[in-house]
Amino acid sequence: MKISFLLTLGIGIPVFKALAIKPADPSFTPPTLSHQPFGYGGLSTGGSLNTSSESIFIVSNATELKDALALPFAKTIYVNGTINGNELPDGRLATCQDYIDMTGSPGADIRNFNFTQYLLSMNTTYTALIDQAIAQNVTFEGMNATEYKTLLSHMNGWRPVLANTMKSQVGFHLTNDTSVIGLDENAALNGGEFYVASVDNVWIRNMKLVSPQDCFPAPETFPSSWNSLYDAVGVVTATNLWVDSCELQDQLSGEYVQPDEILGWQVDRFDGLFDAEDGSDNITFSHNIVRNHHKSMLLGGGTKEAPRDLGKMHFTVFGNLFNGSASRSPTMRFGTFDVLANVYENVNDNNPIFDTNATLLPASTDSEIQSRADGDSDDDVPLDAVFEYILGVYNQSTVQIQDNVFMQTGSDPTDLSRIFTISESTLPEFPARVCVHESDFFSTMNGQPIDNLTVVMQDTIDHFVETGSMVEGAVVVTCEGIEIGYELPKKFGSAEEVVTYVMAEAGQH
Ligand SMILES: *[C@@H]1O[C@H](CO)[C@@H](O)[C@H](O)[C@H]1NC(C)=O
Ligand SMILES: *[C@@H]1O[C@H](CO)[C@@H](O)[C@H](O)[C@H]1NC(C)=O
Ligand SMILES: *[C@@H]1O[C@H](CO)[C@@H](O)[C@H](O)[C@H]1NC(C)=O
Ligand SMILES: *[C@@H]1O[C@H](CO)[C@@H](O)[C@H](O)[C@H]1NC(C)=O
Ligand SMILES: *[C@@H]1O[C@H](CO)[C@@H](O)[C@H](O)[C@H]1NC(C)=O
Ligand SMILES: *[C@@H]1O[C@H](CO)[C@@H](O)[C@H](O)[C@H]1NC(C)=O
Ligand SMILES: *[C@@H]1O[C@H](CO)[C@@H](O)[C@H](O)[C@H]1NC(C)=O
Ligand SMILES: *[C@@H]1O[C@H](CO)[C@@H](O)[C@H](O)[C@H]1NC(C)=O
Ligand SMILES: *[C@@H]1O[C@H](CO)[C@@H](O)[C@H](O)[C@H]1NC(C)=O
Ligand SMILES: *[C@@H]1O[C@H](CO)[C@@H](O)[C@H](O)[C@H]1NC(C)=O
Ligand SMILES: *[C@@H]1O[C@H](CO)[C@@H](O)[C@H](O)[C@H]1NC(C)=O
Ligand SMILES: *[C@@H]1O[C@H](CO)[C@@H](O)[C@H](O)[C@H]1NC(C)=O
Repeated sequence: MKISFLLTLGIGIPVFKALAIKPADPSFTPPTLSHQPFGYGGLSTGGSLNTSSESIFIVSNATELKDALALPFAKTIYVNGTINGNELPDGRLATCQDYIDMTGSPGADIRNFNFTQYLLSMNTTYTALIDQAIAQNVTFEGMNATEYKTLLSHMNGWRPVLANTMKSQVGFHLTNDTSVIGLDENAALNGGEFYVASVDNVWIRNMKLVSPQDCFPAPETFPSSWNSLYDAVGVVTATNLWVDSCELQDQLSGEYVQPDEILGWQVDRFDGLFDAEDGSDNITFSHNIVRNHHKSMLLGGGTKEAPRDLGKMHFTVFGNLFNGSASRSPTMRFGTFDVLANVYENVNDNNPIFDTNATLLPASTDSEIQSRADGDSDDDVPLDAVFEYILGVYNQSTVQIQDNVFMQTGSDPTDLSRIFTISESTLPEFPARVCVHESDFFSTMNGQPIDNLTVVMQDTIDHFVETGSMVEGAVVVTCEGIEIGYELPKKFGSAEEVVTYVMAEAGQH
């Protein structure tokens, strides 16, 4: 049976589109996954609210996934194998040049876009040399200087149009009441972004989520700071979301992707792995692995958009493994964030930021809670992969920290000064509040109990006030009126238990 439904074009002309996508055979037995939703996203049901056997789909290519996601009713979509975000409807895998060649009509000027020339067009030293050649009526790099200057002047305007071509290919838009679930540990969306935008009640489970690499990023600061467009999951004004047992990373292998070197720039083609903003709410991010990434999780929008977030943005971040996450694990703005029982492993080759009064107690004999990474300092680590910090606390957020375990290797494996960072905290009248629960046991740093993480947080604040990067009183350490208002899947009695649990439960199964 083919499912047909009404698609309404922007101009209001209804068209019938016959979809190739068919429900799964009734004999299909879905995989058994162990976790249940809990925490702030605990009320979400995803597609499971639909008990009709006709609401279950199995997809294995990009077109099928897009067609299934667009179905306007509650459904569960199982992903079978790796789906490439850049897979064109004819099965070819698009390159960056393809997005250029696909934009505009054949022969259109925009198809002359060239990323190297785009970078050159922003180099005023370079363009001054072209102006000189024009003034002297001589050629420039073998080209007519006037014509070359005109060509370069278009690059900046063409870039966002090309970016839209790419975005429409690699973007996968969820609709209300949907579950996307990997059939097994081979399930992946490779180089695609799940847009969870203006939708309610979504599950994303048991998937490898590999962020697209932006073909058309914009440079920010030489040589390695870039504005790239894509996250693996982008959450905008979405509610009741549960992301569980996923693995979020730069490429299928899990390795960090080295930036391209172009004209001395290191091109970082990634943004976040899981970013959320614009009044999103009731979200649980649990039992996931976040690995080898620069800017992992930014929760909360910019300062100008604060009114959209305030009072919303409730997140539970529980039971995840962050391994080689250089920053934002997560960074938290304008919302309520419970960061509980996560394991963090980093190679810390950075200088300590400040001295803390907190001390490390003698190491536990249990090697489970010490770093497993090989501790070799790597001189070849690109700038944007160097470990910066774990938890970012921004303006007006309410943050609870409990039962997290830290592991470090590198040149400074016992440094505590990069557990927290603070920025954009300027409003003592609406302070961010951080509650550090020391539950039944101390958080550990590489096997050594941290005698007082509250003191580390307070010292972080004092440091940032002293250096003038935050206003005194804009972040306060307190647990007054702050508690975890729901049942967690597990209660822990030691750091070892946290690690054992996270190792067993985080990631795909
Ligand atoms: C459940 O799925 C069927 C398709 O088999 C669909 O017709 C129905 O609208 C769905 N129910 C809900 C509540 O979305
Ligand atoms: C998944 O795809 C493989 C082929 O790659 C196929 O053999 C298998 O039957 C599919 N599984 C389901 C549940 O459709
Ligand atoms: C995607 O899968 C559908 C259903 O199996 C198939 O008809 C279609 O040809 C596939 N597309 C590509 C590009 O492989
Ligand atoms: C892009 O421009 C650079 C610099 O002008 C040139 O070397 C390169 O060949 C161009 N690439 C393409 C695909 O035209
Ligand atoms: C800008 O162009 C000049 C002249 O070609 C070159 O020497 C310089 O390295 C370029 N700067 C950057 C940031 O690319
Ligand atoms: C510029 O150079 C071209 C080619 O050498 C020549 O045809 C043209 O007359 C020159 N223009 C001026 C204003 O000198
Ligand atoms: C370059 O082209 C412009 C017109 O596009 C022309 O006026 C100029 O003479 C040319 N310059 C050279 C050096 O050929
Ligand atoms: C999705 O759900 C939200 C919240 O229930 C609702 O406001 C919105 O209209 C729904 N969207 C569609 C396309 O039905
Ligand atoms: C979020 O969940 C709370 C209950 O935990 C509920 O009161 C609130 O309405 C939910 N918000 C949205 C937007 O679903
Ligand atoms: C983190 O990654 C490193 C390097 O890939 C690996 O050696 C280590 O076992 C991983 N840590 C955990 C806790 O899985
Ligand atoms: C940690 O330090 C805070 C602030 O100085 C203090 O209130 C708390 O009792 C200390 N906790 C432990 C376990 O010593
Ligand atoms: C850390 O020690 C310094 C110097 O003794 C002291 O001024 C500061 O208040 C202490 N900070 C905390 C959080 O105890």
